Amino acid sequence: MWGMMNLPIRPRRNRKSEVVRGLMRESSLTASHLIYPMFVQEGDADTPIESLPGCTRWSVKGIVGECRRLLELGIGCIDLFAVVPEGRKDPQGSEAWNPEGVVPRAIRAIKEATPQMCVMTDVALDPFNTYGQDGIVREFPGGGYEILNDETVEALVKQALCHARAGADIISPSDMMDGRIAALRAALDAEGFASVSLMSYTAKYASALYGPFRGALGSAPKFGDKKTYQMDPGNIREAMREAELDAAEGADFLMVKPATLYLDVIAEMRRRTSLPIAAYHVSGEYLMVKAAAKSGWLDERAAMMESLLSIRRAGADMILTYAAPDVARWLAE
Ligand code: PBG
Repeated sequence: MWGMMNLPIRPRRNRKSEVVRGLMRESSLTASHLIYPMFVQEGDADTPIESLPGCTRWSVKGIVGECRRLLELGIGCIDLFAVVPEGRKDPQGSEAWNPEGVVPRAIRAIKEATPQMCVMTDVALDPFNTYGQDGIVREFPGGGYEILNDETVEALVKQALCHARAGADIISPSDMMDGRIAALRAALDAEGFASVSLMSYTAKYASALYGPFRGALGSAPKFGDKKTYQMDPGNIREAMREAELDAAEGADFLMVKPATLYLDVIAEMRRRTSLPIAAYHVSGEYLMVKAAAKSGWLDERAAMMESLLSIRRAGADMILTYAAPDVARWLAE
């Protein structure tokens, strides 16, 4: 019989079965949207990371094997971060552009074994310098310090060229210095790396959610904070200013970080730019779900998938996430 209410418009008709819901679904998540951040270290050991359950500090040999498994799962892009022993760190962070450093060696090994894997690399100095700051530090004799912009950009250019020479497909500067996209583009083009892409960390906020990542790399700042270069969490117009600059300087795509606490920033950027947008579901966001699931308080799979889908719905094209292999497995089931 008819319903009791005289109600011609019933939105529930569009949710009446899985097929109908599938037809109506506005946002989706597939393995092709995912970029998997990975950590690579010296030596032969593959070490599980306690502060980032499910993640590993890989040896060069180990990461090559893992890349084969990722490709089978449908994950075609990784983002490489270096774990640097304290003894290799110096005030300048010069290990960052050592052609025999762990990142260039990993790039070469991965591209040789699995050339189809798209290798993105992190460009920033914090894992490499003794300060744990993303840039070159000038200490004042009377106390205090400054993160030098232009000197840092020079160092980032050296690091990026080192990665490009090793075979990196995409360079991703995570430092938030001014003018680095233009400088990196010019330097890459001048050396014949016109096809190497630049993903800019456009709006990277000074967030409390990077803690587990810094634990994984041993890269926490030795003093102070990162607030003179990473953005104030209260700001959104400033993110649009950064986006305009990155577009003008030649970024191939933009990135917002963290992701789920900054969905408004992703959505606003989506409205304002025609460039593709990535979002970084950072270590703290990943751990909030993992920890709650471990306590039995959340369904890990459902909560993780919903978090990542919200990032797509906000307007991100791609997502960097530590859950990438789990997600790919869940999607294949
Ligand atoms: C530093 C860098 C950080 C992350 C990526 N690159 C930490 C920081 O800025 O201190 C964070 C990633 C995460 O938390 O998952 N260049």
